[in-house]
Amino acid sequence: MPSIFVFDAYGTLFDVHAAIARFRDDAGPDADRMSALWRTKQLEYSWTLTLAGHYTEFWTLTERALDYALAMVPSVPKALKPKLLECYFKLDAFPDARTCLRDLKAKGHKTGILSNGSPNMLKGAVDNAGIGGDLDALLSVDVLRMFKPRPEVYALVTDHFKCAPHDVAFVSSNRWDVMAAVSVGFRGMWVNRAKLPDEYLDFPPVRTLSDLGALADLP
Ligand code: 2OP
Repeated sequence: MPSIFVFDAYGTLFDVHAAIARFRDDAGPDADRMSALWRTKQLEYSWTLTLAGHYTEFWTLTERALDYALAMVPSVPKALKPKLLECYFKLDAFPDARTCLRDLKAKGHKTGILSNGSPNMLKGAVDNAGIGGDLDALLSVDVLRMFKPRPEVYALVTDHFKCAPHDVAFVSSNRWDVMAAVSVGFRGMWVNRAKLPDEYLDFPPVRTLSDLGALADLP
């Protein structure tokens, strides 16, 4: 079993839909549709800009994606934008994130985050969740000015920990993120909370987990 566990941030440790959940009553019946579009466009912008050889910080893409989603779902009051962004900056961690990290540290493993999030975004979420003490590294793609799934991004992990790819268990809820991690030699662990159909079948994870709690059960 690898000794280093590296986690994706948004969607894996932090719940990207926690922001809208705080304002569900104000947002109305289309809240979830707006939040899903917000996430879809945030990721789409990161992929398309990277493919075209450009870079814009993830926080700016997050704000622009929210603008698009609010424009497409007019029943959600635009006045919620500043509150939604403030919530996203201090995004709630999934309930199992804190325990999972604590258990891994107790077992002597090294832990880290590798994320599209800019350094201040990650600090905001990590500090709010109170998990900084159980993380050995916060790695942001911002230093490379390119987003996942570019292979160079995953090298930030092996460079930081001075390890080989197979020493790393890479944990993500984003199956495309697991694909890229497996393709550079990491042991991919897919957190499939929503019980989605598998994809990228040429790049299988070594484990598919229902939640982060299942990590504690690994040998
Ligand atoms: C992250 O890099 C992909 O949004 C996800 O944290």
